[in-house]
Amino acid sequence: MSDLRPTDPADAAAVEASLELAAERGGDLSPAVYQRLFERQPDMKALFWRDGNNAIKGEMLAKVFEALLDFIGERHYAHHLIETEVITHEGYDVPRGVFATFFGIVAEVVRQACGADWTPAMDAAWRHTLADLDHYVAQRGQVVSTPETQP
Ligand code: HEM
Repeated sequence: MSDLRPTDPADAAAVEASLELAAERGGDLSPAVYQRLFERQPDMKALFWRDGNNAIKGEMLAKVFEALLDFIGERHYAHHLIETEVITHEGYDVPRGVFATFFGIVAEVVRQACGADWTPAMDAAWRHTLADLDHYVAQRGQVVSTPETQP
């Protein structure tokens, strides 16, 4: 598995600024994120059948924002978390590709909440970050090969 270089500090600052602004302006982004997710991936809605009061959705998005901040910053755990969650979520029938869709939707909702204060720097920073996130979403689990015969 190959690890990418950490997020460029200027990109990290722009993504952080957008998240702060979005939280100030948009408040709880959870309803907008899941509404878009279910519009685009209607099959995903039924998978939250246990989540009558939206607590799981809220908790999950909070974890995603937390992970995003680590991903663009110190990157202590977020890249591994993403790889692990992709596998864990196979147990919920969430296809790998939906992770990329989900991160993209988070970016769209942040952008919408920032409104007129969304800057070209934020746009570029999010594009780079989404591309880096995709790298970890797309990684296959490490294949440990144990050849039966040694050369
Ligand atoms: C990095 C991205 C993600 C992280 C960190 C994450 C994390 C989590 C966590 C921690 C839970 C358990 C919540 C709880 O029980 O309180 C959960 C549940 C769930 N997640 Fe995610 N998730 C991610 C992406 C996704 C995506 C893209 C989908 C697609 C729809 C998804 C679908 C689900 C579903 C259906 C459950 C509910 C399982 C249940 O009924 O208990 N997750 N997720």
